[in-house]
Amino acid sequence: VEQFFAPKILQGMSLLLTAGPTREAIDPVRYISNHSSGKMGFAIAKAAAEMGAKVTIVAGPVNLDTPLNVNRVNVKSTQEMLDAVMEQVHHSDIFIGCAAVCDYRVADIANDKIKKSAEEMALALVRNPDILATVSAHKQRPFTVGFAAETQDVEHYAKDKLKRKKLDMIAANDVSDPALGFNSDDNALKVYWANGQFELPATDKLTLARQLLTLIAKQMKPA
Ligand code: CTP
Ligand code: CA
Repeated sequence: VEQFFAPKILQGMSLLLTAGPTREAIDPVRYISNHSSGKMGFAIAKAAAEMGAKVTIVAGPVNLDTPLNVNRVNVKSTQEMLDAVMEQVHHSDIFIGCAAVCDYRVADIANDKIKKSAEEMALALVRNPDILATVSAHKQRPFTVGFAAETQDVEHYAKDKLKRKKLDMIAANDVSDPALGFNSDDNALKVYWANGQFELPATDKLTLARQLLTLIAKQMKPA
């Protein structure tokens, strides 16, 4: 009965998040991308909406249904994802960067399908902007949470990203474990912030999403 009348912990909050991969065109028929399924981001969007937040998910190309009461913006490239995020960031209380963003894009996208010729070819790539770091540097900065997918030295790299991107919190997962992360339905997270950390052991992504959002809510308004 109590929990029925208790205010939802994210009531009145706006959450903006990115999810899924980004996709960088090479020519009209080819692209560079990664194996992100978008499941973790969509689980967070669903959990946050259930907890009372107003949720906008900026999603790369994924085959997932939009959770109930979630506003979805579909994008493909990293630049499109950045533009969609920056359009919403000023009225967001929380930003979570869940997307597996392509670090590089193709320098010159060919207008026509590239024909094969030589035995070897090289593709010139240029660095993409960092969406998460751009949000955290914004003057109307929301509570900013990053993810870190690592295959080694998880804690070291995650804490480095927390500092370097000036985040409020980072959730790290070890993607070298094939049972967890990227395409799987389960995940485990190590969550770090400036003066604390918390381990969320392996479970389904929706349970994990609820636990992560509870940690975020606690950090936003310390008791
Ligand atoms: N991220 C982002 N924009 C980018 C690259 C990453 O917003 N261009 C975000 C991701 O959504 C994630 C966090 O930054 O929340 C960390 O992503 P990750 O790929 O682990 O970190 P990088 O800074 O790209 O470092 P590296 O890939 O070299 O480990
Ligand atoms: Ca990266």
